[in-house]
This record gives sequence, structure tokens and C-alpha cells, in this order.
Amino acid sequence: MEETKNAILTQGLTKRYSDEVLALSGVDLAVAANSIYALLGPNGAGKTTTISILTTLAKPTTGTAQVAGFDVVKQPAEVRRRIGVTFQETVLDVDLTGRQVLLYHGRLYGLSKAACHQKMDELLALVELESAADRRVGTYSGGMKRRLELARGLMTEPEILFLDEPTLGLDPQNRAGIWNYIRDLKEQRGMTLLMTTHYMDEAEELADCVGIIDNGRIVTEGTPQQLVEQLGADVLRIHGHGPEAEFLARINALPFVENAVHTNGQLQIGVDSGNKRLVEVVQIAGETSFVIEDVSITKPSLGDVFLQVTGRQFRDE
Ligand SMILES: Nc1ncnc2c1ncn2[C@@H]1O[C@H](COP(=O)(O)OP(=O)(O)OP(=O)(O)O)[C@@H](O)[C@H]1O
Ligand SMILES: [Mg+2]
Repeated sequence: MEETKNAILTQGLTKRYSDEVLALSGVDLAVAANSIYALLGPNGAGKTTTISILTTLAKPTTGTAQVAGFDVVKQPAEVRRRIGVTFQETVLDVDLTGRQVLLYHGRLYGLSKAACHQKMDELLALVELESAADRRVGTYSGGMKRRLELARGLMTEPEILFLDEPTLGLDPQNRAGIWNYIRDLKEQRGMTLLMTTHYMDEAEELADCVGIIDNGRIVTEGTPQQLVEQLGADVLRIHGHGPEAEFLARINALPFVENAVHTNGQLQIGVDSGNKRLVEVVQIAGETSFVIEDVSITKPSLGDVFLQVTGRQFRDE
């Protein structure tokens, strides 16, 4: 059997914050070295909790996790030495300059002054903040702050970088910029990245593997390609009224239908070819007296996958 190296490996991670709140209920993750894994899920799914456990900031209630081969509970110092993390919320001191933020962080993690300065110059160039490096962070735009945080996470040359919602609240141009840095980190520097996002396109664009997390559980996992292919080549979306259950049962029985679900007054039908199959679907609607008001044919997206596996619309799509 070929041995694949996992940079991150978890078994049955659970996290209970209180009697009412079970944030994780059995998360098994295996992230291959030198890959990008995206945890994709809606608000409250358990993304940040997972990152907190993997970066040793929180302890799991049950289950185990290894990061870079070290146990996060038993060997937290070994883990910390090998990781970088950027948080969902901006945690920058606005009174410092960009350069000072990086310097203090590097010093805190035991880098010499000389090593800090060398690293800072390199990273400020990477995230294109050289010209703003000596300005107070308080004067930075949202995108500049995210870029500075990314640079700070990289000060210690981590093997594994955790990015919690790296592009939250950024405009498209800034997001595309961050995406490029993230790709470079994997491709040029051989890093492993675990990122969380609730942007479908971000996961689709960057990740080698996507885990869709919902209610503290990974509900499906695969390459973006694999996930959307489960749905068929095209998705027919139908709005209408009538005997949905009967219509849907007939549709689901058709050989060319990958799956069909009903949610929020919309039918989502994965088929091998939208243009070719529409006629048949419309005909069956007629036979079951289901009245179609509106139809569209689209390529499946991760949003459709989410809908299929959870039965709910992904709000932030
Ligand atoms: N420190 C805490 N104490 C109590 N409950 C918490 C704490 N942190 C998170 N939770 C709860 O645990 C669940 C998972 O939260 P978590 O922050 O991991 O979700 P998330 O996927 O990161 O969500 P978001 O997309 O909003 O960032 C939520 O129900 C949240 O309210
Ligand atoms: Mg979060």
C-alpha cells in the first residue's frame, strides 16, 4: 500500500461547550501534506472550533488530533512550533505599524532580530504592503489588514498554515489577491493549508479537497470536481406547484437522473444533459399535473452539493 503523509489527522473529534452546545460531533479529517483543504460550511457549523482545536487553542471534549505528526493535546508546543494561524476576526493592534506587528510576532515566537527583519522584508513584498509598512495599522483598509495578518501567520515559516475565513468581507479584487498568495504558499513553498470559508467559489477555486461541515459534522468530502459530479452534468431548477412528491418520485426513477430534491419551493434535478432531458421532465410534470412556472438549466456548484446533502440552501452563496 502506498503511504500518504497526512499533515493533519483527526479521529472522532467532538467539542461540547455546554449542555446545549455540541459544536463538533465526530469530525474525522485527513489532510495530505502539501495540499489545500477547505472546510466549507454555514455560520455556526463548527469551522472555527475545529481550527481552535488543531491550533491548540481549545481542547477537544473527546477524540484525537495530530498536526505535523504531534498530538495537539499531549504535545502542544511541538504543534505550535510548526504552524501558523490567521484568525477570522482581525486581531491586529491598530496603534502599531505593519512592520512592528510582524517584528513583535516574530520576536514572540523566538526569532532573532536579524531573522525577523529578513523575513519581514520578504513577507511585506509577498503581500504587497512594502509602501504601507511604516504606517499605523489603524489607517489600513480591510484588505490590507487581511494581507498583514497573512504575513504575520507566515513569520515563523510554518509547515502548516491555518486560515480561518481568509477573505471574509473583502472585495473581489482583494480576494483574488489573497487567493494567489494562498496558491503560492502551497506551490512554491510546499506548505499544507487548512482554510475555512463560507464562500463556495473560494473552496472551488483553491481547494484540493473540500469538506462540507454542517452541525459539527463533515457531511461530504472530496475534490470540488468529485463533489459537483455527484450531481450530474447539469442541474435543472424548477419552480412550480402541484403534487411535488409524486412528480419527484417519477423523476427520481428516471435512469438519467442523478438525484432530485425539493427544497424551498424549488426542485433541483441533477441530470446527464440538461438540454436533452428537459423535454422529458416537462412531460412527466404534465402527466402528474405538476404545474411548472419557471425552469433554468445550470452547471452544478458546491452550493447545489450543500443543498443535496443537507436539504437546506446555503445562505451565503
Ligand atoms: N467559546 C464558545 N462558547 C460557547 N459556544 C461556542 C463557543 N464558540 C463557539 N460556540 C458555538 O459552537 C458552535 C460552532 O461555532 P464555530 O464558531 O465553530 O462555528 P463556525 O463554523 O466557525 O461559524 P462562523 O461561520 O459563524 O464563523 C456554534 O453554535 C457557536 O455558537
Ligand atoms: Mg468561524
